[in-house]
Amino acid sequence: MRVTISVIKADIGGYVGHSESHPDIISCARDYLVDAKKTKLLIDYYVTKCGDDLQLIMTHQRGEEDEKIHRLAWDTFVEGTKLAKKLKLHGAGQDLLADSFSGNIKGMGPGVAEMEFEEREAETILIFMADKTSAGSWNMPLYKMFADPFNTIGLVIAPNMHAGYSFEVHDVKEHKKILFHAPDELYDMLVFLGAPSRYVVKAIYHRETKNIGAVSSTQKLSLIAGKYVGKDDPVCIVRCQGEFPAVGEALEPFASPILVEGWMRGSHMGPLMPVSVADSTPSRFDGPPRVVALGFQLAEGRLVGPRDMFDDKAFNLARHQANEMADLMRRHGPFEPHRLPLDEMEYTTLPGVMKKLSKRFEPLE
Ligand code: F6R
Ligand code: MG
Ligand code: MG
Repeated sequence: MRVTISVIKADIGGYVGHSESHPDIISCARDYLVDAKKTKLLIDYYVTKCGDDLQLIMTHQRGEEDEKIHRLAWDTFVEGTKLAKKLKLHGAGQDLLADSFSGNIKGMGPGVAEMEFEEREAETILIFMADKTSAGSWNMPLYKMFADPFNTIGLVIAPNMHAGYSFEVHDVKEHKKILFHAPDELYDMLVFLGAPSRYVVKAIYHRETKNIGAVSSTQKLSLIAGKYVGKDDPVCIVRCQGEFPAVGEALEPFASPILVEGWMRGSHMGPLMPVSVADSTPSRFDGPPRVVALGFQLAEGRLVGPRDMFDDKAFNLARHQANEMADLMRRHGPFEPHRLPLDEMEYTTLPGVMKKLSKRFEPLE
């Protein structure tokens, strides 16, 4: 049976500040989606949050970029925004950049990751959701899952993984894409994946079966709005087991926290901390950035689960390390490499300061 899984998310209001989602907003979204399941537009849904982002996980049979599914998500966010305004949550409706829905939610503010596939005998899915960071943050974890044998031993010893995977990489500034084949083109590919503010892994395919293994959201809100409106707070869907990485191989990259862009005012580098959904409450300097992972088994599209995958003592050390890294970065205050380089801050108030002072800059002798 062919199934589509759509994860569509938006920050429609924070509680308190940008640190959390209000429980009433989550209930409101659940109440809204229940009807779509009754009328069979959706097979199933699960509503959750990561920090201040409302996450709609939906299964259906209408394929990717379906107008009805996108409209349903948009209407859910609009409904939630009404409540967010009543509660006077912070930044109510923040990610809804258009006045009305126009066929496809992409480019209208919310983040979207969708994939359609033939449901396997056992279909294991992980949904990764991050807050206070941007889409390129998945580059290194996805590289490790699908291309690094030091992370994924299956690449070496599992016959159904040994041929490798193809990575679709998007240039979010120039709106171009390219397909790299791993392992043959690893060195070429890393030239681009190592620059995650511009090049982002959009999708990954099994090289022999061509089946889709992963898909991410690549929206860059700042580029959509033309001014700073928050980080993308991306999502990513990963199929696991069999011809894809085992669940443990897909979670393993997050055991060694890395520095990603985002955090306070979307303008800093900070560690990506793996946490449970309950702990996705970025409060220290509006961070540090968080990632949560929910695991499901699909049964004819029904979402069996979730299991909260980082709610595991084995990630305690990663959390501890992330906190140590946060301390080290905070020590730099407004200095790089904590604060982002100038060209990455072009959508903040900085251009105004530069403009104001431009006449006072004199040529050097
Ligand atoms: C980062 C983020 C926060 C806000 C900060 C200022 O992604 O959401 O760090 O940028 O709290 O928020 P405003 O401008 O809404 O007062
Ligand atoms: Mg927010
Ligand atoms: Mg957010």
